[in-house]
Amino acid sequence: MKHFLTVVILGAAVVTLVSAASTDGAISFEYHRYEELRKALVSVWLQCPTITRIYTIGESFEGRELLVLEMSDNPGTHEPGEPEFKYIANMHGNETIIDLIHNTRIHLMPSMNPDGFEKAASQPGEIKDWFVGRSNAQGVDLNRNFPDLDRIIYINEREGGANNHLLQNMKKAVDENTKLAPETKAVIHWIMDIPFVLSANLHGGDVVANYPYDETRTGSTHEYSASPDDVMFKSLARAYSMYNPVMSDPHRAPCRKNDDDSSFKDGITNGGAWYSVPGGMQDFNYLSSNSFEITLELSCDKFPNEETLKSYWEQNRNSLVNYIEQVHRGVKGFIRDLQGNPISNATVSVEGIDHDITTAKDGDYWRLLAPGNYKVAASAPGYLTVIKKVAVPYSPATRVDFELESLMERKEEEREELMDWWKMMSETLNF
Ligand SMILES: *[C@@H]1O[C@H](CO)[C@@H](O)[C@H](O)[C@H]1NC(C)=O
Ligand SMILES: *[C@@H]1O[C@H](CO)[C@@H](O)[C@H](O)[C@H]1NC(C)=O
Repeated sequence: MKHFLTVVILGAAVVTLVSAASTDGAISFEYHRYEELRKALVSVWLQCPTITRIYTIGESFEGRELLVLEMSDNPGTHEPGEPEFKYIANMHGNETIIDLIHNTRIHLMPSMNPDGFEKAASQPGEIKDWFVGRSNAQGVDLNRNFPDLDRIIYINEREGGANNHLLQNMKKAVDENTKLAPETKAVIHWIMDIPFVLSANLHGGDVVANYPYDETRTGSTHEYSASPDDVMFKSLARAYSMYNPVMSDPHRAPCRKNDDDSSFKDGITNGGAWYSVPGGMQDFNYLSSNSFEITLELSCDKFPNEETLKSYWEQNRNSLVNYIEQVHRGVKGFIRDLQGNPISNATVSVEGIDHDITTAKDGDYWRLLAPGNYKVAASAPGYLTVIKKVAVPYSPATRVDFELESLMERKEEEREELMDWWKMMSETLNF
């Protein structure tokens, strides 16, 4: 659980990663085609084998692996109490700023759409056609292909129902759904299997940090669509935009002269207020897992010239690191029973915020929260709920552990109390 290791390794590993293609170790900023990307990841792993690992979460339609570079002091394992973070880039094959970072237990997926990227990158010449390679090889736009959980949550808000993990126990239905692209299915499994706390997906086409919800409640094209964690999401989006001098510049001209950027403020925007996106990955994370995700648009140009990549890296480096550090905010800790056994899948609720999160396998949890005073409740079926008052500063996260008494233990205690009382009474009355 050495969080600070992170930032140090971060710099080194990113430099290594980005420069992997050049033999002299100097940083070279260039696009990595699929094979080169593979080699670059392997080269990072070879140089830092004790703190990195490469794994694949599945295959694209054309059979390219969806590779992830993991960085952690214990690669390959979830350490109890250590939060998980992920960055996903290149969801649309024609957006290609490859951003590579790590911290904590950090997962970097440089390309969610390797088929689209190959197609876009293999066009001859410097100026790439913006329309080539956005979709996967089947023509599916991956950021419209996730199950539309917003529709379900908007019904549950009105009529009651679950406020989190909306695809619970539905993995089989996901696997059997023929409308989902292989890349989407692989990422859904990944999101649901690892206890991610925070994530971002990286795009190009504009310059802004976009936060949930992306889909509007009424179906209108532009409408502010607050999630229950609106305050925290704004804070997270600002934690990115503030460190990017271009994104946070109030006088930045719109990317294209007819763009409607009226919802942008401080370099951030609510997704629905900008334009409604059904079936996106960002809202899917929040509604199907514990992960809070935002969408980062990093460049007006979807396929910037190689000569300009270095300047994008410089604009975004501090933001990328600062955003990862946000994973250490709010309240975190463990939920256990009175014997000290972890209770997994227990619920953590915050009064006034209609979005619960759940504990991971070791009873560990992370509840991102903006500064303030909160009442936090821990509950699990078969246990008595415990509520604690918690003061949350900006950072770091406040540690709050819960010990839950099982209802059976409580019944046993009550029975013993009754027996004692009965004994006392019989002695007093001399039965
Ligand atoms: C990427 O391609 C899609 C259509 O395939 C297009 O709508 C989009 O504008 C392209 N790139 C850019 C500029 O976003
Ligand atoms: C987690 O708990 C919820 C309700 O408390 C339940 O519906 C669900 O099946 C549980 N999930 C697992 C994986 O045990």
